[in-house]
Amino acid sequence: MSVTLKPNLIDVDEQQLIFHLHNEQISYILGVETGNVLAHLYFGPRVRGYHGERRYPRIDRGFSGNLPDTLDRTYSKDDLPQEYGGNNTGDYRQPAAIIKAANGARTVDFRYQDCRLEAGKPNLTGLPQTYVEDEDEAQTLIVTLVDDVIDITLELAYTIYRDRPVITRSARFINQSEEMVDLEKAASMQLDLPTQPLDAISLPGSYARERQLTRQRLHRGVTQFESRRGGSSHHMNPFVALAEPQTTEFSGNVMGALLIYSGNHQFSLERDPIGQTRLTVGINEYNFDWQLTAGQSFQTPEVALVYSTDGLNGMSQAYHQLLRERVARGQYKNELRPVLINNWEATYFDFDADKIQSILDAASPLGIEMFVLDDGWFGHRNDDNSSLGDWSVNRKKLPAGLADISKRTHDKGMRFGLWFEPENVSADSTMFKEHPDWVLGVPNRGRTLSRNEYVLDFSQPAVVDNLFEQMTAVLDEVPIDYIKWDMNRNLTEVYSPHSVSDQEGETSHRFILGVYDLMERLTKRYPQILFEGCSGGGGRFDAGLMYYMPQSWPSDNNDPVERLRIQYGTSLVYPISAITAHVGTSPDELLGRSTTMAMRSAVAMSGTLGYELDAAKLSAADREAVQQQVAFYKQHRRLIQYGTFYRLESPFESNTVAWMFVSPDQKEALLYTFVILGAVQPEPHITKLAGLNPDQNYVEEATTEVYGGDELMQLGLYTTPVQTSDFMAQIRYFKVQD
Ligand code: GLA
Repeated sequence: MSVTLKPNLIDVDEQQLIFHLHNEQISYILGVETGNVLAHLYFGPRVRGYHGERRYPRIDRGFSGNLPDTLDRTYSKDDLPQEYGGNNTGDYRQPAAIIKAANGARTVDFRYQDCRLEAGKPNLTGLPQTYVEDEDEAQTLIVTLVDDVIDITLELAYTIYRDRPVITRSARFINQSEEMVDLEKAASMQLDLPTQPLDAISLPGSYARERQLTRQRLHRGVTQFESRRGGSSHHMNPFVALAEPQTTEFSGNVMGALLIYSGNHQFSLERDPIGQTRLTVGINEYNFDWQLTAGQSFQTPEVALVYSTDGLNGMSQAYHQLLRERVARGQYKNELRPVLINNWEATYFDFDADKIQSILDAASPLGIEMFVLDDGWFGHRNDDNSSLGDWSVNRKKLPAGLADISKRTHDKGMRFGLWFEPENVSADSTMFKEHPDWVLGVPNRGRTLSRNEYVLDFSQPAVVDNLFEQMTAVLDEVPIDYIKWDMNRNLTEVYSPHSVSDQEGETSHRFILGVYDLMERLTKRYPQILFEGCSGGGGRFDAGLMYYMPQSWPSDNNDPVERLRIQYGTSLVYPISAITAHVGTSPDELLGRSTTMAMRSAVAMSGTLGYELDAAKLSAADREAVQQQVAFYKQHRRLIQYGTFYRLESPFESNTVAWMFVSPDQKEALLYTFVILGAVQPEPHITKLAGLNPDQNYVEEATTEVYGGDELMQLGLYTTPVQTSDFMAQIRYFKVQD
């Protein structure tokens, strides 16, 4: 029997102590420098091997100190590119770790000790992460560093996938000493990049204006992208890309760093005095202080690094595949996502069984596949001032209970979904009255209210257990196919009434671990339920959540013009299958802007489609339009949800926006173009397609015109019809000619 051995993904030069992680696409190289300092050598397009002089250019840089154990004045940790910098030992750049020892010193100096290789990828207990399905698809290098004065071991894990331009990194601290130390900062990774001009691309935003793609040149000093809000936040997504200035959507080098975590995060970029850039990524050091007792370890969350030589689209496509295939789990990860209708903007809190029945009656003939009962079905909640925490049905509104609504929905041939907000509690609730100590808060201080809610202390296992019991009581009794998991505020007074006083700095991370614990238990127990994440729209649209929930609500903003930007920015990292998008009313509920049905539906059909309106109130024309949209969407949803997505023209740069979807075999494509504002004298606009097979001919379904793939990509197509009115949208379907 002959066995074909797959080539090794990691070379270790034991003489020179050089480690080379490589696949067909990328290489990542690190090595041990003088004094056993772990140096960074390279991350970029694949090289066959490393033959370079591994010492960095040495020069006596005044006021940059030298290692205590060497006499070399040309060698300094202050300018050496490193893999994980310490603190207070001569490297003045942002430290990756700050550890306070028992004697009060915050001095950290990690040196190389040894390394080991593992097949596949080790599991990070209790945290979301990338995974392998087969040990052969990845290999992991674990480099052990040690600070032998404070007796802390640091294990840096590097995993390389065989068929993806992806390296994942994380760090684990092990306290080998007899005393407790305080981890005051514990980044997941550091990367020291050589001197070169770089643009940082980030995704800042706000409520109803999430992930606004922003690009800025990095100048000297520290640029920080972070969240201190207890969640990954609307305000700054846990992602940053570093691009060469000439990099575009289609060409040029770019690397991305994505933190797989839903709590406070910090991406720090320091361009040092000689132009090198240090990137550190991890849990935010703000309000963080982890007491690492003797013998204990602390595992950081993981970062997924992607390197693309094909511009931003190349990077995004690698992330889309990784998140879909090796972060999302469960039966829905590859399944076509149902078209849903949600009653939130149709009824808000004002509904009863009859009202729901009227929506069901109107929605099912339209081909809509699922009804989601949003906020307001529990406790005595008639507005957003009460009842969070009391997860039993409001019999005044729904006298026959949830089972009746579930049955009515199923009787219409639709699936039934339900809204929860497990992490918060209303002051006006039985839970708060009975367990005031289950809420985050600092003794003798008022608690900040937000949407009239308090945050439950998920760092307490008893709280997580209670939510598990309350939710399973509902889910065991009522046939439920989908859950929308909301979280409608940020954390304040982050202090657990049950923690020992000086463990305050652990609470925000323990909170997120508690949230993950509940999500893990529920998603395991109900594999048939499709979970959708939500946080006041897209306040927690992150890769951590995707490990438990394969889709998320990106924004409460359904206005299609605003949504173009939100979805365009979101697609920089997150796959289309994960981005839910609903057709709302015109005028829009939040903004009040009137737009065309064509625009609203084309934007929503660019993601996982749903409706956020009262189906019973649709005009005859809109009813027909919705029916056609749903039929068209069902016909093409595999291509939309799982095809290769290309951003063509940006809503951040122009009045015409375009994107497209191509099937993996390049036999089908959908082109979407949007013209936001009309003009009396519209400029002719050509959109060039991408990702097609240049040697094939494609037939456009609507016109039966035939075009070469090369023609569509090189000559492009005029935006037609030339229209002088606002909010034009067009979807064009192409298929390879038989
Ligand atoms: C958040 C969600 C909305 C809706 C409301 C209900 O704002 O983003 O979609 O579920 O909560 O209170």
